[in-house]
Amino acid sequence: PVDIFPGRTNSQGWDWTDPRDMDAIDGARNDFKLAQSDAGPLTVGARSGAGQTSVISPFAPQDCVGTVQLASGDDAAEAVIAAKPWGASASTRAQVLLKAADLYEANMGRIFALLAREAGKTMPDCIGEMREAVDFLRFYAGEAAALKGDARGRFVCISPWNFPLAIFTGQIAAALAAGNAVLAKPAEQTPLIAHFATSLLHEAGVPKAALQLLPGGGEVGAALTAQPLVDGVCFTGSTATAMRIHQSLAESGNATAPLIAETGGLNAMIVDSTALPEQVTRDVIASAFQSAGQRCSALRCVYIQEDVADGLVEMLRGAMDALRVGDPWDVSTDVGPIIDAAARGKIAAYIDTARAEGRVLHEVQAPSEGTFIAPTLLRVDGIAQMEEEIFGPVLHVATFKSHQLDDVIDQINATGYGLTFGLHSRIDDRVQSVVDRVHAGNVYVNRNQIGAVVGSQPFGGEGLSGTGPKAGGPLYLTKFTQSSGAPVPA
Ligand code: NAD
Ligand code: ALA
Repeated sequence: PVDIFPGRTNSQGWDWTDPRDMDAIDGARNDFKLAQSDAGPLTVGARSGAGQTSVISPFAPQDCVGTVQLASGDDAAEAVIAAKPWGASASTRAQVLLKAADLYEANMGRIFALLAREAGKTMPDCIGEMREAVDFLRFYAGEAAALKGDARGRFVCISPWNFPLAIFTGQIAAALAAGNAVLAKPAEQTPLIAHFATSLLHEAGVPKAALQLLPGGGEVGAALTAQPLVDGVCFTGSTATAMRIHQSLAESGNATAPLIAETGGLNAMIVDSTALPEQVTRDVIASAFQSAGQRCSALRCVYIQEDVADGLVEMLRGAMDALRVGDPWDVSTDVGPIIDAAARGKIAAYIDTARAEGRVLHEVQAPSEGTFIAPTLLRVDGIAQMEEEIFGPVLHVATFKSHQLDDVIDQINATGYGLTFGLHSRIDDRVQSVVDRVHAGNVYVNRNQIGAVVGSQPFGGEGLSGTGPKAGGPLYLTKFTQSSGAPVPA
């Protein structure tokens, strides 16, 4: 990707195929393989609390990763009152965020261990997530100095479990870079990563009143968005929750507070008969099954031109058979666990229904213990047959005839979602006309459709997939600011 901000570089990350990097990672993370972490609210002022709970690894019920003290609704209300926007200059804020990025990298071992144990992340996913988190910190630090406008005030940042470090950090870094106070509500499944990341941001110099952490479930998020003093909400998660937050803001007399919502998708790819089969196979497998399909960007439905469909499905079957499903700590694992038993149960029930209807084209082996789902290929007539986002390693395959291409695009647009879209074709005119017609925030041609790069590929959706502006892009920080109250020139 071409960097649209010359002079800025993204994190170099680690190359897990290089034995030297692998030794460094293993040496650093092994110290934390059995370590227990404790987390709780990081707030200023009094706390009532809502009890303590254990954090159990999703794939290994015997692995207790730590404990967390949950915040209560009262804590949320107190924290909003106690929040103080970060009054430091833009350059000081930027320096602190840059220092936080360095601290993240210096603590790579503990972060990788937490990502694997608390969120079930495989090694490539840990590396990708860490890179994205530090890229967000450095990118928004760089943007802070050039930012026009004033801080809004108090920003609530609500994040999902599937990028418990990168999205958690990206939201906070953007709001802080613009000078706001942040009330961060991480996903209930991943409080330990959030707690550790917040402690690193405090260590770097973010004042405690400018960044408070409130671990807990949806009820804590709801308590935060119901506070009339809140000046804006940055939310990443399901479309259904975004709608509830909209409603909550309106009901608490806050209808004009901005809501940045980054939500779900029903992502499609079109493969025509000119595409290179080996490349399609590699890109489809990565798009659908990396991160066990637990990415908002993941491919859910691939439309393959009829003439090449049988051959490609056969190649996909072979590639799926080569995937290793299992313990994310093991560096040879390709597909890790589903985040928890409830999520696994929902996906398994969906596959069972498809099986009963005779629509399973292929599925591979997965461990029977734990919360694994075997990568699965299902036949569908079209994307309309999928009523909702199935957040796991389930890929739907539909076929089309050459003259039906326009109809396929209409079907994809008719879902109302518009997050990622992939196209494999070697006909330039066709590529252009499809790209022009399809409604999606991130469109990828002749490559996979996951892993947007901060600063080069701003990420975000249209329609039911998000409000914009795109994360990691030049417009993102503007939504965290307001026009200053300077007098209008005569
Ligand atoms: P979710 O909507 O269930 O939860 C997200 C967050 O919202 C959690 O912190 C949760 O506690 C909180 N929450 C739940 N109910 C709430 C309420 N009423 N008020 C305030 N907060 C509330 O989503 P999830 O299952 O954690 O994450 C998966 C979803 O996130 C998928 O739909 C995925 O596509 C989407 N996602 C989107 C992006 C993107 O950038 N577009 C990125 C990652 C994930
Ligand atoms: N930004 C993440 C991706 O592009 C969700 O896969």
